Amino acid sequence: MENSEIKHIAIIMDGNRRWAKQNNIETSLGHKKGAEVLEEVAKYCNKIGLKYLTVYAFSTENWKRTKEEVGAIMKLLEIYLDRFLKTADLENIKLRILGDKEGVPENIRKKMLQMEERTKDNTGLKFNIAFNYGGRAEIVRATKIISKLVLDGKIEIDEIDEDMISDNLYTYGEEDPDLVIRTSGECRTSNFLPWQTTYSEFLFLNKYWPEFTTDDIDKAIEEYNNRHIRKGK
Ligand code: FPP
Repeated sequence: MENSEIKHIAIIMDGNRRWAKQNNIETSLGHKKGAEVLEEVAKYCNKIGLKYLTVYAFSTENWKRTKEEVGAIMKLLEIYLDRFLKTADLENIKLRILGDKEGVPENIRKKMLQMEERTKDNTGLKFNIAFNYGGRAEIVRATKIISKLVLDGKIEIDEIDEDMISDNLYTYGEEDPDLVIRTSGECRTSNFLPWQTTYSEFLFLNKYWPEFTTDDIDKAIEEYNNRHIRKGK
């Protein structure tokens, strides 16, 4: 890590259900294990001095899953947001939720806003959790905000540029991901950070998210560094 230029890792945490099925346990236990892994990974990324970690926890499409499964994920989120907040306080981590908070249950929305406010000045890892997130919807949202500025006469159309769009995404003020990891063997990006990952490296791993470990973070950084050395030659 010391000699690496990597600052931002983004992860599509995929395969919780297949892992549960493979182990003959309930789907909700797959998600529980996934949440435990996420906690370890976030702590580790902070420890090694990574600047940003962004994870895809729940897409706008995920509402289509059964009521039981969505309910189980919401319950887990409630528990883990509290745990992440405690860790963030202790370890100087800044938490941000990427996504449409209006669409999540009231009690969870309140927790999300509270933890963003309480950790906003923390200077360690910036830990973004994409929840009720869709990348195209994020760009539509930015377009509406900017259109309103034009309509209100606050800016001219010609002032609209790439920076202005970036500044109106959920990731405003942050650097783009250097590396995107997706677990479970699927090789798609599934509407995750389409604007922000234009220049990112991608790594697709043949293991389910609950099997992911901090060693995989080390290996991913090594792979990223090797690609960069090759690029430099
Ligand atoms: C992807 O596996 C996982 C999800 C859509 C749910 C994500 C939830 C977690 C990783 C827990 C951590 C997040 C919280 C709540 C703090 P999948 O269910 O799509 O698995 P599959 O591809 O095998 O169907």
